[in-house]
Amino acid sequence: KHVVLAGPPGCGKGTQAPKLKSEHCLCHIATGDLLRAAVAAKTPLGSEAKKAMEAGALVPDEVVVSLIEEHIGKPDCRVGFILDGFPRTVVQAQKLDEMLEKKGTHVDHVLNFEVPDSVLVERISGRLVHPASGRSYHEKFQPPKRAGVDDITGEPLIRRKDDNVDTLKNRLATFHSQTTPVIDYYQKTGRVAKITADRPKEEVSAQIRAAMS
Ligand code: AP5
Ligand code: ZN
Ligand code: ZN
Repeated sequence: KHVVLAGPPGCGKGTQAPKLKSEHCLCHIATGDLLRAAVAAKTPLGSEAKKAMEAGALVPDEVVVSLIEEHIGKPDCRVGFILDGFPRTVVQAQKLDEMLEKKGTHVDHVLNFEVPDSVLVERISGRLVHPASGRSYHEKFQPPKRAGVDDITGEPLIRRKDDNVDTLKNRLATFHSQTTPVIDYYQKTGRVAKITADRPKEEVSAQIRAAMS
């Protein structure tokens, strides 16, 4: 299966992906996590991406498309994959369709997470992340077992550099102008399931399970 998780910053893509991954044995590809790893490792790709990410703008299509291309060829992605944060432009969606067509396959499900902007601000401003795994927590809604550290590794949690009010404003504006057309693109072929993601985590998971069955 090939699943696209679509939705604004903070809608819960990264929170829901691990569950979906284990239930369906899919590979989880989060472009944001891959880009942050490249920035941290100071690779050429990372230095190209850094400025756009810190400004809440999109990294150029060629850069993320090459990341995806590299990743979906890996053996662990043969069963299928969950794309988290990709495609974010219509060009990226077209490139993805081309890549999958070459493999004789296609996108099966587009899960469109809907959450009002006001809720997103609250979610993003309380988020804590474990950088190595991409696991996210929330000070209020999903606190770690021990304050400030990851439940599984015990390593410290951090705040993402782009999780501040100003950058979030830009990320939301970018989402509304550049990524909502992607939903329209998929809507044409009827592959979109609406997920009401402004609900408790377990309820969102249940909606996803229903959409995937
Ligand atoms: P990316 O890392 O993809 O960020 P994003 O899309 O802004 O999404 P987030 O990771 O912020 O949100 P999420 O939906 O994963 O929310 P989460 O589950 O953590 O991208 C970062 C940057 O990289 C972009 O700005 C861009 O520059 C670049 N980039 C990435 N992909 C690109 C592409 N394809 N093209 C070009 N550029 C690209 O949840 C958020 C918080 O809410 C957490 O604290 C969580 O605990 C809490 N929470 C989750 N669910 C619930 C719930 N049901 N109830 C209460 N709280 C909840
Ligand atoms: Zn995420
Ligand atoms: Zn993989």
